[in-house]
Amino acid sequence: MIRVAIVIGSTRPGRKAEAVARWVHDLAQKRTDASFELVDLADYNLPLLDEPFPPSTGKYTKDHTKAWSATIASFDAYVFVTPEYNHGPSGALKNALDFLYREWNDKAAGFVAYGSAGGTRAVEQLRLVLSELQVAHVRNQVALSLRTDFENFTVFKPADHHEKTVHGMLDQLVAWGGALAHLRAARAAKPAP
Ligand SMILES: Cc1cc2nc3c(=O)[nH]c(=O)nc-3n(C[C@H](O)[C@H](O)[C@H](O)COP(=O)(O)O)c2cc1C
Repeated sequence: MIRVAIVIGSTRPGRKAEAVARWVHDLAQKRTDASFELVDLADYNLPLLDEPFPPSTGKYTKDHTKAWSATIASFDAYVFVTPEYNHGPSGALKNALDFLYREWNDKAAGFVAYGSAGGTRAVEQLRLVLSELQVAHVRNQVALSLRTDFENFTVFKPADHHEKTVHGMLDQLVAWGGALAHLRAARAAKPAP
């Protein structure tokens, strides 16, 4: 059974990301086709990328990078719960993606976004970034509206229909996460270049 991380993609005090991620996690817990865990960027205290070597070398010098690497390497697929900041994802999430390379390769990703236009512009940018990291991003995505899924733009109260969309996204994510397992295994069996 594959392991899926639900990544809380905002570190802002008062963030909405945590409530959204917990809702996704609760829905995911009803499934038996994968195991699901919350991963909170705020727990890793990543500074702006401060490694001297490119992440593709895997030469990590900082304890925070090693801890983040170990967490991300242990999962087969990711759900990125992302806000939209200036039509892109949060800087914290982009920075966390930039820190690593091999750990992301040949994995699968899905998105749960929120914003005035469902966070869709942030997801489009994330898709570009994840393509470079060799992550297979699934088509189905969850687009939550700040106007209709948050009472007074604040308290998270998702419309019922989103539940089906979450499962539609997870169906594709679990399928691709599993399908790519043989690529990950073949790479792990090869000696490092
Ligand atoms: C710096 C910044 C830029 C924002 N830009 C956008 C935007 O371009 N589009 C949008 O829909 N919402 C935008 N918002 C509103 C956020 O979607 C909203 O504040 C949301 O709660 C942020 O997620 P978080 O609370 O999990 O950090 C912006 C918020 C911030 C703080």
